[in-house]
Amino acid sequence: MDNKRLYIQTIGCQMNVNDSQRMASLLGRSGYLAVEQAEGADLIIVNTCSIREKARQKVMSQLGRFRRLKRNNPELIIALGGCLAEQEGEEILKSAPYVDFVFGTRNLNRLPDFIRRAEKGEGRGVHLTPEENYVESLDRIEIKPDKVSAYVIIMQGCDNYCAFCVVPYLRGPEVSRGAGSIIKEVKTLAGQGVREVTLLGQNVNSYGKKEGEIGFTGLLEEIGKIKGIERIRFTTSHPRDLSKGLTRLFGRMEKLCSHIHLPVQSGSNRILALMNRGYTREDYLRKVEELREACPEMSITSDVIVGFPGEREEDFDKTIDLMNEIRFDNLFSFKYSARPGTAALSLPDQVSEEEKDRRLRTLQDLQTVHTWEKNRRWEGRSGEVLVEGISRNTPDDLSGRLKDNRIVNFKGERTRIGSFVEVVIGRAYLHSLRGEFTREVSK
Ligand code: 5AD
Ligand code: SF4
Repeated sequence: MDNKRLYIQTIGCQMNVNDSQRMASLLGRSGYLAVEQAEGADLIIVNTCSIREKARQKVMSQLGRFRRLKRNNPELIIALGGCLAEQEGEEILKSAPYVDFVFGTRNLNRLPDFIRRAEKGEGRGVHLTPEENYVESLDRIEIKPDKVSAYVIIMQGCDNYCAFCVVPYLRGPEVSRGAGSIIKEVKTLAGQGVREVTLLGQNVNSYGKKEGEIGFTGLLEEIGKIKGIERIRFTTSHPRDLSKGLTRLFGRMEKLCSHIHLPVQSGSNRILALMNRGYTREDYLRKVEELREACPEMSITSDVIVGFPGEREEDFDKTIDLMNEIRFDNLFSFKYSARPGTAALSLPDQVSEEEKDRRLRTLQDLQTVHTWEKNRRWEGRSGEVLVEGISRNTPDDLSGRLKDNRIVNFKGERTRIGSFVEVVIGRAYLHSLRGEFTREVSK
């Protein structure tokens, strides 16, 4: 039997990327071959995001593109999954007759069944009721790693209800995956040649809290014992739940990489309270100081939202002050985007689009200065890189990461992919460093 062709369009976060890989793996068993191009596919899955309005618009424009493909090939099946499907799936199905079915973020295991029904023309479906024990079912679908670095989901959902965020409504309550099944997955990955794992969850610091399991630091230590895994990363952390124990671990656990993504969102206590973040600027600054004490080479990156309702010039100035005080290694900044169903929708004093644009530009310009400053510190120094593959822009170059997550490109033999090498950094750029190979550290 000829393979049918599956094209998955992934929009959004790492969680979606991981879910898409799981879908491809699962559908591989039903004879679908994942392809790189939508043209000529028999099945298109759009794995959507809804974190900001921009993501939603991206999904809608992709759908427009796939609609044209369906005109030429009426047999084509188009499915919509992910966060926007959770949020607006039913409406989209009504307004877009070319979409065959929508499915939720906790319905992946039943995907083959949904597809079979669509193939048989059994009506257009809305499949949004979460599967029972969804988190525990994750280990039923194995993802074959395509690199030496792999993502591993350790929890689903979020209980924090930050006032701006749709995630708790779309991915459901926080549920941690059992440590046993996580460890089993990491061991399998190690056996397949993976050397680095990134533990994924909306708020990894509160891993196991509800379940009374080993807790996040306990989990990290267990993973640290697995042979073959040399580097451990995780994302995303919530500053409120960053424990002293975890901070100390950065100082003493060799395999734990010296980078943390710790979204601050704002430098103003008034805005942090309105956002329902559960910490103050002072708490955040103290935690950063403790992290740097425990691990001086720690790289700290963050997220900031500008123009949250009620953000005045003096609040924005406090964010700028905080940035100057901390000097983040990198920062992802966003204009506040009103999301359906969130608490911030009903807050007064929405900030104008022009003002948001201005604040965003100011903040990005400042971050550029800080990123440059931090990257330049690497010039002339040597560091250990895990070689992940060929450089995206220059196929002659290899590419990998330092422990602090900076990307390094350098000339080298392809056979070095998957090994740890030492490089000397010659030149810093804004998004990467240029290095020169000196020696192989280990295979
Ligand atoms: N508007 C703008 N940014 C948002 N984020 C989450 N929700 C919104 C929103 N409604 C940002 C936060 C979060 C990151 C993943 O996306 O900064 O940390
Ligand atoms: Fe959204 Fe806040 Fe949960 Fe992060 S911690 S997913 S920002 S609600």
